[in-house]
Amino acid sequence: MKDLRDIEVIVASVQHIKYIDDINNTIDIASKERGTGIARRSFEYLKEKMEAGKAVIALEKDKFAGFCYIEAWQEKGFVANSGLIVVEKYRGIGLAKEIKKEAFRLSRKRYPKSKIFGLTTGLAVMKINHELGYRPVTFSELTDDDMFWKGCTGCINHDILERTGRTKCLCTGMLYNPEWEKPDFKSVNGIKKRSLLETIKGLNPVGGKKKKGLLNFKKNVKSWIGAILPF
Ligand SMILES: CC(C)(COP(=O)(O)OP(=O)(O)OC[C@H]1O[C@@H](n2cnc3c(N)ncnc32)[C@H](O)[C@@H]1OP(=O)(O)O)[C@@H](O)C(=O)NCCC(=O)NCCS
Repeated sequence: MKDLRDIEVIVASVQHIKYIDDINNTIDIASKERGTGIARRSFEYLKEKMEAGKAVIALEKDKFAGFCYIEAWQEKGFVANSGLIVVEKYRGIGLAKEIKKEAFRLSRKRYPKSKIFGLTTGLAVMKINHELGYRPVTFSELTDDDMFWKGCTGCINHDILERTGRTKCLCTGMLYNPEWEKPDFKSVNGIKKRSLLETIKGLNPVGGKKKKGLLNFKKNVKSWIGAILPF
């Protein structure tokens, strides 16, 4: 079993261009095995990403272990984290999580105001995204940049996306919005948070629900904190 401590996860640069064929071959193998789509990218496209410092690579000494890249869309309103791949023998040790964390850090550093998003069919990626603060959303909440969606043409399920007028496909869209970090942020995906006043009203035995006992008091304190603090 591979050890995560032997693998470095770094922002890729020109010196990593030699790994592009390995990256694409690993994507091809995974695509066939899964039967669901991971969009393949051209050599030139991945080379540009590495040259621009917009990719993350994982290496065990000089052996390729994993990869992911970022791209800004819609006048930098959105940043996509895409193309996540881990070589089979390095799976199951938390490497994808480290790659995604590094890609998230890179996205926040380079585009601090942008919403970060990704498309995935995989539970592993959903779990990782959730931990990073992403939420599942409909495609309407993602970028409407045609160039981004054009990237899906390399996916075997692309016909579904076309048939539904780009409103849905097999992938789930997941989004992180830096606005959610702000203390005065009041809604998430249009769902309003309970205000502090509403929460306190709910605790009032005359005006709201009656809550008894220490257990409820603990719950109430938690909900007050939840009403004050951002997500
Ligand atoms: C999906 C993939 C990137 C996961 O890589 P990995 O390095 O094995 O993932 P990690 O070890 O970091 O696991 C992250 C979490 O997902 C879980 N997980 C990993 N593989 C899983 C699987 N096949 N099914 C369900 N959960 C899985 C892990 O248990 C872990 O959860 P935890 O935090 O609760 O422990 C890898 O399997 C892969 O390259 N697959 C083919 C390409 C692909 O599907 N890319 C994603 C395109 S969106």
